Amino acid sequence: MSDLVNIPQHIAIVMDGNGRWASKRLLPHNAGHRAGAQNLRTLSEAVEKLGVAHLTVYALSTENWSRPEKEVQGLIKLMHEYFQQYIDDSKKNNMRMSFIGDISRFEPDLQQKIETLRTLTRNKTGLHVTLAINYGGRDELVRAARKLAQDAANGTVDPAHINEEALVRRLDGFPTPYPDLLIRTGGEKRISNFLLWQLAYAEMYFSDVLFPDFGVKDLQAALDWYGGRSRRFGGR
Ligand code: IPE
Ligand code: IPE
Ligand code: MG
Repeated sequence: MSDLVNIPQHIAIVMDGNGRWASKRLLPHNAGHRAGAQNLRTLSEAVEKLGVAHLTVYALSTENWSRPEKEVQGLIKLMHEYFQQYIDDSKKNNMRMSFIGDISRFEPDLQQKIETLRTLTRNKTGLHVTLAINYGGRDELVRAARKLAQDAANGTVDPAHINEEALVRRLDGFPTPYPDLLIRTGGEKRISNFLLWQLAYAEMYFSDVLFPDFGVKDLQAALDWYGGRSRRFGGR
């Protein structure tokens, strides 16, 4: 599919613009979320074909709960529906599915679906897709700090020896390598509390295309751009 040599190992996407996509069509916001969820399925296949190993997508932030009740309920319903589809697909698909974010906030039957998906796809060798749901970079760091404090209090960690690795091991997505390329669709140029630690050296690509319209050609343009980057990681 691509003749690029410099393919990112891990792509992260802020899937933004669903609401505006729907508003432009005089549809409710949830119609945009549905179109976005459908596009994610298409895009994941393209990402897999390109030879990318990991894809992490921002689907629901810790701040998104502040949206109108109807929209939030619609998003939960959509997750139920799509997770069930992914469960059914897992018989023929080779995708591994993981989740980051505080899953404990969800109702038990949604948590159950998440666990089922994780278990069913654990040993799959295709694209590794991580869904960020009820995810916030700050919340993840706070939860990691809490685990460290608990381990210090119960004597399994010596506070004097806490280093980057000790914290990293307690982040949600460990041991997935950090994203090489961040794509944000929908025109905004901000992180919105996504992967604050992990994006430290990611290349940042911003597209004006609304997520439901972000197709394989747009993905290819992002990868072409990425291929021209010189990553120095602070070196010379
Ligand atoms: C992103 O789309 C998806 C979620 C936040 C769940 P938005 O709903 O934020 O789309 P816009 O920004 O309103 O267009
Ligand atoms: C980020 O988009 C969250 C997701 C895509 C899930 P938002 O639409 O919530 O971000 P802001 O409010 O524009 O910063
Ligand atoms: Mg938005």
